[in-house]
Amino acid sequence: MGSELGSFGPAIVRVRATIRRYPTFDRAALRPSGPPPTLGLMCGIVGYVGRRPALEVILEGLRRLEYRGYDSAGVAVLDGHGKLAVERKAGQLRNLEAQLARLDARSFEGSTGMGHTRWATHGGPTDRNAHPHTDSAGMLAVVHNGIIENFAPLRAELEASGIELASDTDTEAAAHLVALAYSGARPATGAAGASATAGDLAASVRAVCRRLQGAFTLVFTHADQPDLIVAARRSSPLVLGLGDGETFLASDVAAFIEHTRDAVELGQDQVVTITRDGYQVTDLDGEPVAVTPFRVTWDLAAAEKGGHDYFMLKEIEEQPSAIANTLRGHLTDRRIVLDEQRLTDTDLRDVDKVFVVACGTAYHSGLLAKYAIEHWTRLPCEVELASEFRYRDPVLDRQTLVMAISQSGETMDTLEAVRHAKQQKARVLAVCNTNGAQIPRESDAVLYTHAGPEIGVAATKTFTSQIAATYLVGLALAQARGTKYPDEVAREFAELETMPDAVAAALDGVGAARELARELASSRAVLFLGRHVGYPVALEGALKLKELAYMHAEAFAAGELKHGPIALIEEGLPVVVVMPSPKGRAVLHAKLLSNIQEITARGARTVVIAEEGDETIRPFAHHLLEVPAVPTLLQPLVSAVPLQVLAAEIARARGYDVDKPRNLAKSVTVE
Ligand code: AGP
Repeated sequence: MGSELGSFGPAIVRVRATIRRYPTFDRAALRPSGPPPTLGLMCGIVGYVGRRPALEVILEGLRRLEYRGYDSAGVAVLDGHGKLAVERKAGQLRNLEAQLARLDARSFEGSTGMGHTRWATHGGPTDRNAHPHTDSAGMLAVVHNGIIENFAPLRAELEASGIELASDTDTEAAAHLVALAYSGARPATGAAGASATAGDLAASVRAVCRRLQGAFTLVFTHADQPDLIVAARRSSPLVLGLGDGETFLASDVAAFIEHTRDAVELGQDQVVTITRDGYQVTDLDGEPVAVTPFRVTWDLAAAEKGGHDYFMLKEIEEQPSAIANTLRGHLTDRRIVLDEQRLTDTDLRDVDKVFVVACGTAYHSGLLAKYAIEHWTRLPCEVELASEFRYRDPVLDRQTLVMAISQSGETMDTLEAVRHAKQQKARVLAVCNTNGAQIPRESDAVLYTHAGPEIGVAATKTFTSQIAATYLVGLALAQARGTKYPDEVAREFAELETMPDAVAAALDGVGAARELARELASSRAVLFLGRHVGYPVALEGALKLKELAYMHAEAFAAGELKHGPIALIEEGLPVVVVMPSPKGRAVLHAKLLSNIQEITARGARTVVIAEEGDETIRPFAHHLLEVPAVPTLLQPLVSAVPLQVLAAEIARARGYDVDKPRNLAKSVTVE
């Protein structure tokens, strides 16, 4: 095992996978042994310094990170004689491998290097935006996972000093800044004069990272330093693999556990220098930091799932960072800014009606968007199943904003709805999780969710990310129309920003849902009830149970019970009830309470999702699943969590494949 460079002494501090602004929470109790999964954006990174040819180690590591999805890939290798070889290619990893096979293998000889698979955030999935990025001289290379929120002013600063950037990415700015600081040409602070970090790659990286805002794992190599790699981490995954005469860096342990199971997880705002003999970790000011080596006990398959049995279970746990990454950078100078918006404030101000089109889970997030948009903007907002939309001859014109929600961006029903809307001259805004997919490409504007690839067929983190994203659209409309003052918009955004912590707290409380799943697994059917924003949550809970456990599940607006569905209630029938806050919507709370009494009187077994501390409901719930108290419009973000876990665990109890339910596909590209 590589020893730490220098003598930091035996002091060992437990390093947890802390994510910016969240209390360190350790849900080890709910997870197989091993370190808490580092949550964050989903590009794949591999770095290597050792005694073997770096290229083959890196490519093998990138293959292991295939589940993280990618729309481009690239490698950088130091040949040990002052030369840096970089190759990158859009598309699957095999495109890069085919390109490398056509090159002279000698140019990629060397035992230090790094690789990257990109899940695009800023800049489309093209060759020019693929990582690694280099400085103008081609002496320094960088790969990045994350979002640098203040990259626009940094780009402007570089361009003002005559540096022409070759890509649309935020990452390239970091390459130029570190190269300037390292070469001595200019300090990382951007001020004039000589750089105090000239010749010191780690110091140059620290100085630049002190200026960066946002989430990042940044990994740098420099042709002058053939036997070392420097990396920095904030709110994005980075682990070290400690081999015998070789050291690895990676987004997660899957990339290197075939070579070593001795690892170290880096903490927040830490910078590591790795050589073949080991590593040295400091904080951003250069002070040494003690870190905790650990032994990876997972096998490769489990490592790819963060120690879980299924990707879906891991993705449920990734919701705090998926929501945080979706919100990140969208409030600048107290104004909501959307992604590649291409819709001006004037365009938004002219909107006189909103139409949401989507399918399945995305449709349920659209139903929730309706509550927020109508409440904040006073615009009428219709929500239509995409497969019905164009056949009902909807009333659309240039002042209609059609919001197309799709995590894959390839759902044919939704794509055809977009095309119909465009033919009717409506403006189309896509809310999508896949950069460069067909639906955003055919839309007038796009707001990307940053949930990272969702491998499980059942949507979870993309659902809660869609809620956050569509609420951003609602705030942008309210801001443009002046139905909310800037301070009100900022206040609503600030409440949204507390949701990752609230969802993390909801995740800490899913033990009761796990327990209940075993009891419900033998049920024939389950009903779901909700009112107001609880009704779309009930619909989503029913869909999860249908698609995962193949169990009949049906959701109703609770007020509809007396209009027919109450006839379904019979002895022992489980009914899930999504309760509003007793404080936020007291009238609805009282009505749902009487609904519960009606169904209990007829033999129903109630499973109540309720706000922590809601003592009124306790006597009426056969099973109580508590979630954190949050504002009414934000409740779906926390109440969806126990329903996701309940469905997944019932499916597991029934022996089904949670990631690949029968008859279903992750992206439905047929009508
Ligand atoms: C949800 O769990 C399902 N996988 C399915 O309903 C899905 O939400 C629907 O097919 C829409 O997919 P999209 O978001 O990729 O458009």
